[in-house]
Amino acid sequence: MNPTIQLEQRYLVRAYNRPPFVLDTGQGVWLQDTDGNEYLDLVAGIAVSALGYQDPEIVGTIVTAASKPLHYSNLYHSEPMARFAAHLVEATPFADRVHFQNSGTESNEAAFKFARKWARQHYGEGKTDIVSFSGAFHGRTMGALATTPRPKYQDPFRPLMPGARLGQFNDPASAAEIIDDNVCAVILEPVQGEGGIHPASNEFMVALRELTHKHNALLIFDEVQCGVGRTGTFWAHEPYGVMPDILCAAKPLANGLPIGAVLVSERVAEVIHPGDHGTTFAGGPFVTAVADVVVRRVSDPAFLAHVEATGAYFKERLEALNSPHIQEVRGRGLMLGVQLDVPAAPIIQAGYGHGLLLLNAGSDVLRLVPPLIITPAEVDVAIERLAETLDQVG
Ligand SMILES: Cc1ncc(COP(=O)(O)O)c(C=O)c1O
Repeated sequence: MNPTIQLEQRYLVRAYNRPPFVLDTGQGVWLQDTDGNEYLDLVAGIAVSALGYQDPEIVGTIVTAASKPLHYSNLYHSEPMARFAAHLVEATPFADRVHFQNSGTESNEAAFKFARKWARQHYGEGKTDIVSFSGAFHGRTMGALATTPRPKYQDPFRPLMPGARLGQFNDPASAAEIIDDNVCAVILEPVQGEGGIHPASNEFMVALRELTHKHNALLIFDEVQCGVGRTGTFWAHEPYGVMPDILCAAKPLANGLPIGAVLVSERVAEVIHPGDHGTTFAGGPFVTAVADVVVRRVSDPAFLAHVEATGAYFKERLEALNSPHIQEVRGRGLMLGVQLDVPAAPIIQAGYGHGLLLLNAGSDVLRLVPPLIITPAEVDVAIERLAETLDQVG
């Protein structure tokens, strides 16, 4: 057995199933394992590596940032953090300020804390409940998990955070039933990722904004997966014309380094004071120097046009694939879901043999979230390999 796999099997907690190869090097949208096998990567580290592998500007920025202190904590001012905060807020029309975290789930936790403090300050005790929707994924820490309604994720870890309420995704009537004056925040993904690549309907987004206004609750968009260029606009909510009060981002923001960001409007920011919330690592100079490059590159209209056009081409080619198992292709930009009538797992397994890294979203959806730099020629290779894979699985 490969010695790396042997060590992992002996020493790691068994929280993951991994395929029987060890990734090593990468370039662009390609990864190579230690045996020299090449894979076209349609996973991007779960929608993270937006600019792909070994991007020269990212590597250069990392080298420069590494020649200075990697960390001195939020106790002190930091030029890279300040510069990045300005660029990220300026790229986010509704937002006035940002608070940094280290991951998606932490960003959602921070958003919930901000919402509860905001509601308590303005409306007193009792307005503490948080609404999420069927199919949502907001993370695995105790608060975020309470808003991630999947029994497999929740049941072994109960009791969860009290005050979580569940509505039906894309059902305005269900939202109207569940949102009342005791709700401090409503959270949703404008395009659900883990739940199977389901975009929110325009009607649902508008209804949530109206209901949150009516009941004095905050609207939180979880753009951890769908944000930062993934859907062909910088933020996935832009085409809806509906603005949130809080937006959480993470995955691609620093192209693979851990980061989370909670963007807020001034009315939320003004209730947060020194000591209310914090974390040791977040917003460090090393990570924010890299994130600043990602946001500048991805927010360039030409880059976003590339994502939109390449995503549309990918979708068109997927729809033309002659597989009896493909029922529907969903999604926008380079966040695509292929609804199958069979389990996705055997297809993902078979893909490795055809030099393809694939991901699922639920049991029967293939989720395609490649690095955003993928070219139409690489999409052609992906389609060819996917067709071979589907043929093999039958
Ligand atoms: C929409 C969404 N929110 C939150 C999270 C949690 O992010 P993290 O894994 O960085 O904690 C994820 C992760 O997949 C996600 O897709």
